[in-house]
Amino acid sequence: MSILTNLTRMWLTRSFKPFIFRNEYDRILPFENCENMGLYIHFPFCAGICDFCPYCKVLYSKEQAERYIDHLLYEIHKVGSSHEGKKKVTSLYFGGGTPALAKDRLKEITDAVREHFEITEGIGLELHPDNVVPETLRKIKEAGVTKISIGIQSFLPKYQDVLGRKKVDTESLRKALSEVSFETVSMDLIFALPGQTYEDLRSDIDTAFDLGANHIAIYPFIDFTFTSSPVKAMPKKMKRDLLDRITKYCNGKGLIRNSIWTFSNREDATYSSMTRDNFLGFGCSATTLLKDSFKINTFSVDEYCRRLDSDELPTSLTIRFSPRQRMVYYLFWTFYSTRADEKAFEDFFGIPLKKRYGLELKLAKLLGFVTYKDGIYELTLKGAFYYHYYENYYTLSYIDKMWGIMREEAFPDKIEL
Ligand SMILES: C[S@@+](CC[C@H](N)C(=O)[O-])C[C@H]1O[C@@H](n2cnc3c(N)ncnc32)[C@H](O)[C@@H]1O
Ligand code: SF4
Repeated sequence: MSILTNLTRMWLTRSFKPFIFRNEYDRILPFENCENMGLYIHFPFCAGICDFCPYCKVLYSKEQAERYIDHLLYEIHKVGSSHEGKKKVTSLYFGGGTPALAKDRLKEITDAVREHFEITEGIGLELHPDNVVPETLRKIKEAGVTKISIGIQSFLPKYQDVLGRKKVDTESLRKALSEVSFETVSMDLIFALPGQTYEDLRSDIDTAFDLGANHIAIYPFIDFTFTSSPVKAMPKKMKRDLLDRITKYCNGKGLIRNSIWTFSNREDATYSSMTRDNFLGFGCSATTLLKDSFKINTFSVDEYCRRLDSDELPTSLTIRFSPRQRMVYYLFWTFYSTRADEKAFEDFFGIPLKKRYGLELKLAKLLGFVTYKDGIYELTLKGAFYYHYYENYYTLSYIDKMWGIMREEAFPDKIEL
């Protein structure tokens, strides 16, 4: 599996050099001149732990969460005040974990962010279905949240059983969503669960829109090696049929495909923290992507607080990209939105896309993975499937390895991928 990702990496970066993450970091993050930058805040506490979930999280305790928020505020001010004036950023996303558990202090956090940054496209926050109650929705709206994403997984009790989650109370969800409105109401669904059929997924998609969603994310189930979930991933062929049929179903319904796994019924309903040229991440496990570096914060809540107590950033690992490595990284996330814009690439790197990857893109066109029109490369249905397939490989060979190590060690010496 990792042979495929390694070979592709070598080919596209024209180098045998692996991605090397080291236990080092910049004291001042050079984000001043970064355009199209987003912000991300991680809240690593959950009311219960799901065994299929790979994210950085621990069981909620009020005392620990309060202490964490104090340190999070410190990190935001420390990074934000390292540059003068208010930096324009596109968006702020809260992920987790279960960030709604911080609802009583959310406004304090968004106020701290706003002291240093001007957010131009709104604030997003992930919710567990249990959080979708009017009181919580009102609180997060008061804090400035304009987009929510609810982790439904499936409305069908048999798949909630498979995932070890409880049945979603659809009527109370509908009621709460009709009482408090948001610009984007997204719902996460998981596909490729054992035995899951096209009809099952179609019914989940219809239910989501019927309950008030205007955006959905249909994530392929990933069986991470370090999670204790007994659920196995679906074989490739079945998965492809399912993804193709679901994509056609969504297209037929007139939905807009905003990225490989997301669809919306309105142009302005968007929810994506990943498709930014640059981003700053705050909190445990949060990542920061800048012009030529990428850093990842420690996964340990205690070590996170300790670093900030000694007035140091909680960075665990940093990779310094070669220009080619940065281009590969850029293209990977750009194609996540199913399209790549030649002009945007050239604006970012100062080099025409065709000059760097003309041959690869020509080949991709010949093989039917992309189409090209007016400076835009767009993934075809086949291209989208292979992107999805490749992203699965990437997740299992890179993310799985990295997160597996970072869960065990707060500050590993070095990770080579
Ligand atoms: C941080 S979680 C969701 C927010 C909230 N804590 C919840 O549980 O509802 C983000 C999303 O990642 C997806 N996810 C989690 N584990 C996954 C896995 N093993 N494979 C694919 N998607 C996964 C789920 O759809 C989930 O809603
Ligand atoms: S799926 Fe959500 S609630 Fe479950 S452990 Fe992961 S972040 Fe927490």
